[in-house]
Amino acid sequence: KFEGLAPTPPLGWNSWNTFATDINEQLVKDIADKFVELGLKDAGYEYIVLDDGWMARERDADGNLVADPEKFPSGMKALAAYIHSKGLKFGLYNCAGSETCAGYPGSRGYEYQDARLYASWDVDFLKYDWCNTEKLNAEGAYITMRDALAKAGRPVVFSICEWGDNEPWNWGKDIGHMWRVSGDISNCWDCEDNHGTWSSWGVWKIINMHENIRSATGPDHWNDFDMMEVGNGMTAAEDRSHFAMWSMLASPLIMGNDLRSATKETIKTLTNKEVIQVNQDSLGIQGFRVSNDNNIEIWAKPLANGSWAMTFVNMNEEPAQLSFDWSKHKIIDEENAKKLDLQQKTYQVRDLFNHKKLKDTKHKLKATIGVHDVLMIRLD
Ligand code: DGJ
Repeated sequence: KFEGLAPTPPLGWNSWNTFATDINEQLVKDIADKFVELGLKDAGYEYIVLDDGWMARERDADGNLVADPEKFPSGMKALAAYIHSKGLKFGLYNCAGSETCAGYPGSRGYEYQDARLYASWDVDFLKYDWCNTEKLNAEGAYITMRDALAKAGRPVVFSICEWGDNEPWNWGKDIGHMWRVSGDISNCWDCEDNHGTWSSWGVWKIINMHENIRSATGPDHWNDFDMMEVGNGMTAAEDRSHFAMWSMLASPLIMGNDLRSATKETIKTLTNKEVIQVNQDSLGIQGFRVSNDNNIEIWAKPLANGSWAMTFVNMNEEPAQLSFDWSKHKIIDEENAKKLDLQQKTYQVRDLFNHKKLKDTKHKLKATIGVHDVLMIRLD
């Protein structure tokens, strides 16, 4: 694979969660404009990725994929140029099977030809799905596409979209820069299979995948907890918690909402640089669950230079009073030999959503946390 393209988790936007196959050139240009206008580019978001539905139903006479001429009349190279002119990067989607999940031409048997086409269109990112694969071996299929991209020569972030059944965290590291760990996310806090044609997972059902896959994540090879549903219908508190948790998990932060109609509150959450900094920390360690105290989820993530992030999520259906006595807790990340060393050191505590300093770790951490809301702190 192209090494070094994702030293920290990729940040971007993908069309699927809101638009499914109903995408077009103007929409994508508007999204690129919004990246700049709304401060998303400034916050670090970079990739604009078209998911399923960008193609015509048939390849051309030479076997090349064709951009749907009605949706994308100027073609993909022109669209890539527009996105690049904004200082952003351009991503496309295809599938390892004979057809994509929505029934467009898949790459099976055309991998090298498709990779050359993407390179000629100046594509920077490829999401590669897993429908209609019949008896294909997953690892082998992703290796084929990786090699095809390498041969085509243009550096491409390779996003493996197998849904966890073939445990991509065990083999994805040298093949892709990220891999999905679950079925498709849906815009709900804690539900499963509530709608859709394939499995859809609520935010917490996906988070619960974190446990045995921690050590797989790191610079250039990330567990991908799926595109975000921030701004897609959960409460503002749930959106904050969802965003905080994706950051704690060092997941790629790929927005999935309509940026043209996003509320101020949604943009405030998505552009929270202090939270993004936790996600983008150079160690690239996936956070872990410390405990659940009175239905408050407590999470920790070691950061560079001995700092830590911690997140307290109120899972109750009513506001909760947090009173966290540092002296009564041991926070140790054995896998990474990191320890929040409260005996040796007093840490400064900063609230990353309210952007203010709290009392240091000689004092109890006290806060009222709203329903499904979060207190996210940084310890330096
Ligand atoms: C399944 C993937 O998991 C989704 O993210 C999306 O890419 C759809 N396929 C598109 O058909």
